[in-house]
Amino acid sequence: MNSEDIKKLEDAYTANTYARYDIAIAEGRGVRAKDPEGREYLDFTSGIGVNSLGFCEPGWVAAVREQAGAVQHVSNLFYSEPCARAAEKLITLTGMSTVFFSNSGAEANEGAIKAARKYSYMKYGRGAGDGFDRYRIVTLAGSFHGRTMATITATGQDSFHKYFTPFLQGFDYAETNDVASLHETVTDKTCAIMVEFVQGEGGVNELDPGFADEIAKLCKSRDILLIADEVQSGVGRTGRFMAYGHFDVKPDIVTVAKGLGGGLPVGGVIFGEKTKGALGPGDHGSTFGGNPVVCAGADYVLSKFMDGGAFLRDIAEKGDYFREKLALLSGVKGISGFGLMIGADVGSKDAKAIASAAAARGLLILTAKDKIRLLPPLTIVRPDIDEGLAILGEAILAV
Ligand SMILES: Cc1ncc(COP(=O)(O)O)c(C=O)c1O
Repeated sequence: MNSEDIKKLEDAYTANTYARYDIAIAEGRGVRAKDPEGREYLDFTSGIGVNSLGFCEPGWVAAVREQAGAVQHVSNLFYSEPCARAAEKLITLTGMSTVFFSNSGAEANEGAIKAARKYSYMKYGRGAGDGFDRYRIVTLAGSFHGRTMATITATGQDSFHKYFTPFLQGFDYAETNDVASLHETVTDKTCAIMVEFVQGEGGVNELDPGFADEIAKLCKSRDILLIADEVQSGVGRTGRFMAYGHFDVKPDIVTVAKGLGGGLPVGGVIFGEKTKGALGPGDHGSTFGGNPVVCAGADYVLSKFMDGGAFLRDIAEKGDYFREKLALLSGVKGISGFGLMIGADVGSKDAKAIASAAAARGLLILTAKDKIRLLPPLTIVRPDIDEGLAILGEAILAV
């Protein structure tokens, strides 16, 4: 099918929930994608942080193909090797205790919310109907935690809190990087504080180290669980395995998704020592969670990080290089984020118009609020960074 036919068919038959670029992608290799007519695009989006090793990395394709040909699904009634292997690597790389595999970031956050509430209930509840109220979860203004009912409620942006009432009870919102607001919002009813250490959808804004310290202190002193939402920022994206690694904190629960599967739908709720027993048999589950094909992809992605830190160093160095070059572009007023999770402030220019101008010139980029957001594959090489930034420079000038 050609691009026009694909667009017409998809527009006719899929729910109209996405604002799409006027582009169909038919194939990809590494950092380059092609439309059905063969037009090439340089990709600084990684499918919103998902294709962490780029398009169709040969080892990843082989691992997924091999598993699809061996057994595609077993259900969680049975054990399977890819799930076991991926879990072992995730625990080795995080130093945490156990993982529950979900299918998406929102579902991972749902699992984290359930686990936090159960942890609190088991420790501080007195039984059903006892008026137990230590179930509240504090999140931050500007955060994004997903699209399910619980996670849109957790999301600290008013624009998500329309239409779908009634929302889930028990969420309170503190201002980001505002210690006084944090102290006002956390009460003796709080069981967890859930944060993105780098807010992705909110504009690639990292937390102030002092604010992160204060969250960690509060959590420790009051037995409040710290949940790190690493759905966008985790699995190497920021040059550390998790973005919280840039801060002096130790979360009790970490959620991941996006880049974990390298292109297949997988998420994880990773439990630390304190929370590893929070959920037991029957408390949580997922038909597709831990699917062998998906876990074979995740296991392959994770294997890339089992190299003594060389891949992470490479990501961090390329991130530094990217930032240095980006800062030289006329129209870029500021840069945020870590590693290859990059936000660019373009002042009064319209970031969405810049993204369209870039796409018209063969470069795919993202926006987050009024910023440009760049999430290139972690495997990108410097000449591709140079080529993409030259196009981005032209696109900014054109707007
Ligand atoms: C920080 C964060 N949490 C959760 C989500 C939701 O993930 P998913 O779309 O896989 O449900 C996202 C998605 O953008 C995210 O960036």
